[in-house]
Amino acid sequence: MTSPGQQRDTSAAQPGVEAARQRIAARLVGRGRELELALAAVAAGRDLVLEGPPGTSKTTMLKAITEEWGIPLLFVEGNADLTPAKLVGHHNPARVLREDYSADTFVPGPLVAAMRAGGFLYIEEFNRAPEDTLNTLLTAMADRAVEVPRVGLVTAEPSFRVIASMNPYDNVGTTRLSTSVSDRLNRIVVDYQDATAEEGIVALRSGLGDALARRATPDAVAVTRATRTHPDVRQGSSVRGAIDLALVAHQLAALRGVTGPDDARYPEMFYDAMTVALSGRIRLDDAAETTPERVLRQIWEDRFILNPAAAQPG
Ligand SMILES: Nc1ncnc2c1ncn2[C@@H]1O[C@H](COP(=O)(O)OP(=O)(O)OP(=O)(O)O)[C@@H](O)[C@H]1O
Ligand SMILES: [Mg+2]
Repeated sequence: MTSPGQQRDTSAAQPGVEAARQRIAARLVGRGRELELALAAVAAGRDLVLEGPPGTSKTTMLKAITEEWGIPLLFVEGNADLTPAKLVGHHNPARVLREDYSADTFVPGPLVAAMRAGGFLYIEEFNRAPEDTLNTLLTAMADRAVEVPRVGLVTAEPSFRVIASMNPYDNVGTTRLSTSVSDRLNRIVVDYQDATAEEGIVALRSGLGDALARRATPDAVAVTRATRTHPDVRQGSSVRGAIDLALVAHQLAALRGVTGPDDARYPEMFYDAMTVALSGRIRLDDAAETTPERVLRQIWEDRFILNPAAAQPG
């Protein structure tokens, strides 16, 4: 006797997994190791939790993998309102009144949609979902099928996977995963990449490459990274802040007639761009008696006044 879980067919993922890895890696900046680990897990037919702070390539990697496999990626946000019914689906009440229940009146939720299409169901902030929702999901993962009232048994296509994400710094409104949940998941930890990789991401996503950007990109990455280690900051900005900072600085420089990286007005222009791109993205420690702007000013002074050598390109 084998359970449906043991019969799982993973052959769709087996041939050419190495060639797929190379094609996917070509679309990412860095992340070779995490991509390899994630591919190994999903190609093995396994479900997965990706644990890491915001902006650390979790969605980017999953998008690249599902596009390579030619399957859908369905997003669900884990929060207290994510009931089992929202995940599985519901019967359209108006149609039920007119026609009575049938498989036709069923409106699939993301879980059933992903199972039928053989897609990845990506549940962000997994640990915020209520326990009964997690249990529904665990059953679907174990059985590769769910029983839908008045529809019957929905069986997952072979490439169906559940991928969860969690932010380790986030402990407001979250529950720790119980051991019964964590024991059923594989786990990959992703952290911030190094400065060089983040500069590569900013260059790629901003599309900027002029002389100003050749200074602004490393500046943007350096001050963004500094928000993550500042003593008064609980959670600093992700690379998204650095991308926006480079773009805002580019426009602000044009508006103010800052002609290039050596213009004397560049540093002050850059500080103003920092307040726009970063002040809303940093979470201060509860005990810190300061403001995001003061924290940013300190970071700016470290980069532009106290240690200007580090700010010079080359
Ligand atoms: N390795 C990478 N290569 C290219 N771009 C990247 C990479 N990592 C992140 N990015 C870019 O940075 C931004 C954030 O990345 P992404 O959405 O993958 O983060 P995430 O880990 O899913 O964050 P969150 O937990 O907030 O959902 C996106 O604009 C993405 O394009
Ligand atoms: Mg994401």
